[in-house]
Amino acid sequence: MKPLKATQEAVKQAAKVIREGGLVAFPTETVYGLGADALNAIAVARIFEVKNRPHFDPLIVHIADFSSLEKICSSLDERARKLMETFWPGPLTLVLPKTRIVPDIVTAGLPTVAIRMPSHPVALDLIKEAETPIAAPSANPFGYLSPTSADHVKEQLGDKVDVILDGGKCQIGVESTIIDLAGEEPTILRLGGLPLEEIEKTIGRVRVSTSNSRPRSPGQLPCHYSPRTPIKILDKKNLRVNGKRKGLLAFKTLPKDHSFEVVEVLSPKGDLREAAANLFSCLHRLDKAKLDVIYAEPVPEVGLGRAIMDRLRRASMRDSS
Ligand code: TXA
Ligand code: MG
Repeated sequence: MKPLKATQEAVKQAAKVIREGGLVAFPTETVYGLGADALNAIAVARIFEVKNRPHFDPLIVHIADFSSLEKICSSLDERARKLMETFWPGPLTLVLPKTRIVPDIVTAGLPTVAIRMPSHPVALDLIKEAETPIAAPSANPFGYLSPTSADHVKEQLGDKVDVILDGGKCQIGVESTIIDLAGEEPTILRLGGLPLEEIEKTIGRVRVSTSNSRPRSPGQLPCHYSPRTPIKILDKKNLRVNGKRKGLLAFKTLPKDHSFEVVEVLSPKGDLREAAANLFSCLHRLDKAKLDVIYAEPVPEVGLGRAIMDRLRRASMRDSS
């Protein structure tokens, strides 16, 4: 499936595919999504097939306006309202009590639904034209690196989808931050494109879930977002590996006299936003370089650096889990 440039005409065509129960890969500001009509259980079932995704892993429902909210969400508290007003459209997903209209396959049988209003104009137009909320996980095979360009989607899912809309490179580059507001205490289920600090400025202290044993959000599984090549977080001790083709994911500078076959730099300026935007494309390129191991240099754990380190740690768990 060749990606279609996301012109108005192409978006209209893709919206028709959604209405008819098909699958459309589309750009959002975080990563590319693999979308289907969220209210059509059969269409949604195909997402799970194509991604090889376990059915216990619920999907995010994407909306384009506030009026769609009451259709799928049964109650909103003050905190939810405040977060939506401040950060929507944008890289924040809220987990809220669901209405009966949302099929169980979307929420994996949970009484809650994850909802996001993306800010990418192509995503918003697609949802508006389709006239239905769109359920969409990231458009990659389950557990693999998320796609931040239409070519990533083509390489990973190819002919399994009906349309791939090409809206260029994703600006944020890591998935949305997920916050659970269905319980007493607001809890971050996934660190992502909206920094924790911004959320806390708006609603005060929130808990960050660290439970990996029984994740409510499989993005929390210890091993996730992995390239096929083993990845290790760089520290001075683990560099002495001989006879292997090594790659490096560097934060801002190229090391002098290094013995890496391939080096990718996340942000020459040392800017964490730029680093997040480049994270998955750098990892995709390193993964294609036929290396034995990829070393990833740690980045500072503030702002988007938290989401970057979260993804790198989970990616590096593949070996040890
Ligand atoms: O940025 C994003 O969020 C992208 C774009 C396409 O919007 N989507 C994305 O979806 O990353 P996905 O399916 O790869 O990750 C969604 C996460 C999963 O880990 C899932 O378990 C969690 O959201 N989730 C969905 N519904 C939930 C619910 N009701 N309760 C708790 N977690 C939920
Ligand atoms: Mg995903």
